[in-house]
Amino acid sequence: MSNNRNYAIGVFDSGLGGLTVVKELLRLLPNEDIVYFGDTARVPYGTKSKESIIRFSKENVSILLKHKVKMIVVACNTSSSFALPVLRESFSLPILGVIKPGAKKAVETTRNRRVGIIATSATINSGEYVREIKRLNPAVKVTAQACPLFVPLVEEGWFEKDVTRDVARQYLAALKKTQVDTLILGCTHYPLLKPILKKVMGQGVMLVDSAQEVAREVKQLLEYTRQNKVVKSRPRHEFLVSDEPKHFSKLAQKFLGRAIHDAKRAGI
Ligand code: DGL
Repeated sequence: MSNNRNYAIGVFDSGLGGLTVVKELLRLLPNEDIVYFGDTARVPYGTKSKESIIRFSKENVSILLKHKVKMIVVACNTSSSFALPVLRESFSLPILGVIKPGAKKAVETTRNRRVGIIATSATINSGEYVREIKRLNPAVKVTAQACPLFVPLVEEGWFEKDVTRDVARQYLAALKKTQVDTLILGCTHYPLLKPILKKVMGQGVMLVDSAQEVAREVKQLLEYTRQNKVVKSRPRHEFLVSDEPKHFSKLAQKFLGRAIHDAKRAGI
């Protein structure tokens, strides 16, 4: 941990989806400073190779380190799946990903020991969520389903359109048959589809939001290590992107629940 507890929490994602994690951090830790980096020039990561995802993730951490951060949150599920061990080896500050917190919550939540996981193709192919769940409880049966069309649908703002519901029905049909009682939303964008996913899966299925779970872990870690911000200054919330910020600022409202007018470009 950086020795300055008044430094910011650094968060990165492949683009703007990680703002769902920022939203939860703001709710739980309103006094903390946050610096967010969205790699909008290279999004999506969900279709890229392991090597590229690791290289991009390392570069993203290096950018955040220039902005006085005390820890890093990897908001992107795809980065968390592939890059977390390498990042922890390469950098000396604490780095949290979203896979473990989401998997833990799912294992605690399921009653019938049948858990579903939906995510990008890369995250599903990594097998990381399944491995983590099995590590926590080998008796849990996990069914994984990649849902690559969800990210573009969410970025289009089509949260409740018929086409989105139809796509969800197709993706989730086989998963529903396995009678999961818990479904992990293993992608930054999926919390925005909660109403439609609830309808398609049925009210009895609990949706686990990895963004909420990682925010809880960040709070615990900061309290436990006494690294929470003590200065009561107005919190600094900085938003950096690798491509031009206009599109990011426009869509941010949907992810964050509030507008961002001052996103800046940061170089790689
Ligand atoms: N942020 C990515 C994730 O959570 C979704 C978008 C992408 O494919 O880059 O997996």
